[in-house]
Amino acid sequence: MDNDEILVDPNEHKTDDIDDLTIRPKTLNEYIGQSEAKEMLDVYIKAALKRDESLDHVLLYGPPGLGKTTLAQIIANELGVNIKTVSGPAIERSGDLAAILSTLEEGDVLFIDEIHRLPRYVEEVLYSAMEDYTLDIVVGKDSQTRTIKIDLPPFTLVGATTRFGDLTAPLRDRFGVVLRLDYYTIEDLSKIILRTSKVHKTNISSDAVLELAKRSRGTPRIANRLFRRVRDFADVKNNGDITIDVCKDALSKLGIDEDGLDYTDYKYLGAIINSFNGGPVGLESLAATISEESSTIEDVYEPYLLQEGYIKRSQRGRIATEKAYNKLGIDFYKGIFA
Ligand code: ADE
Repeated sequence: MDNDEILVDPNEHKTDDIDDLTIRPKTLNEYIGQSEAKEMLDVYIKAALKRDESLDHVLLYGPPGLGKTTLAQIIANELGVNIKTVSGPAIERSGDLAAILSTLEEGDVLFIDEIHRLPRYVEEVLYSAMEDYTLDIVVGKDSQTRTIKIDLPPFTLVGATTRFGDLTAPLRDRFGVVLRLDYYTIEDLSKIILRTSKVHKTNISSDAVLELAKRSRGTPRIANRLFRRVRDFADVKNNGDITIDVCKDALSKLGIDEDGLDYTDYKYLGAIINSFNGGPVGLESLAATISEESSTIEDVYEPYLLQEGYIKRSQRGRIATEKAYNKLGIDFYKGIFA
C-alpha cells in the first residue's frame, strides 16, 4: 500500500459531490437502507401533514457519509416546504443565526449540519426559537441593553451530527425526534451502486457491484466515489463497461484493499502495533505519530475500524485486536508475549 491519496474521507467536498446532488434520492421511497429511521420519519411526516402542522425538530446522528443531508432534503421535499442549509461552524455570531431564522416561512426546514460545532452563544439563541418559535435579541449596550422578542413562523430544525455525545443536554432535549443512522449492509450498498450506475447509464456486472459494495465501508458516499473512479478506468480501458477485472484492477491501483481499508487505515493500525506495542495508546499520540488530524481519525477512520473489530477502545486508549495483526500480517501472539 503506497498510495497516499485519501479516497475514503467522506468529509471532503469536492467536485464529485456536485455530481452527488444529481443522483441523490428525493423521496423516502427512493432512499435505500436505514429502514428504522425511514419508517419513523414516514409516520411523523404523514402525521404532520395530516394535522397541517410543522414537523417536530429532528436530530440525525451517525458516522459521516451515511446520508444525513440527503434525508434532510427528503424531509423538506416530502413536507412540500423550502429547506435552508447551514453548517454549525459557519455561524459565528448569533446575529447570523437570527438573520437566517427570520427568512424562514411557515413549515420550512432549517438544516444545520455539524450542529455540535455551533458556538455556545449561538446555540442559546436556538433554544427559544426551537421551543416556542421566538427569537430573543439583545439590543443596546452596557446598562441600556434590552431584549426584543420576535415571533417566528413554526419551522422544523433538522440537525445533523457525527458526535451525539458532544451535544449539550439543553440542545439535545429540544429535538422531538432523534434518529441514529447506521453503516449500510452490503446488500443495501449494492442497491445504491446499481442505482448510481443506472443514473450514469453505465454497464456494470453484478460481481463488480458486489465488489464495490464490499469495499465501501458501509458508506454510500464512499460507494459512489469509488464507483466514479472505477468508471474512469472502465471508460479509458474497457469502453465504459465495469467488469470485475476492471473493478479489482482500479481499486487496487487506488490502494483500497479487499475490505475497503486504505493507506491511512494501514498507517493507523501499523502505528498502534509497531510504535505502541499494540496499545493502549491515546488519540493525540496516535494522531501525532501518523500526522493526521485527531478529529479526522476519530470521526472518519475509527468508527469503521471499531465496528469491524480491528480496534477496541479502553479508558487508557486504543488497542489493536488480533484481526488488526492478521490484516498487517504480523503475528499477534509473538507481539503480546514479546
Ligand atoms: N445515494 C446515496 N445514499 C443513498 C441512499 N441511502 N439511497 C439511495 N441512493 C443513495
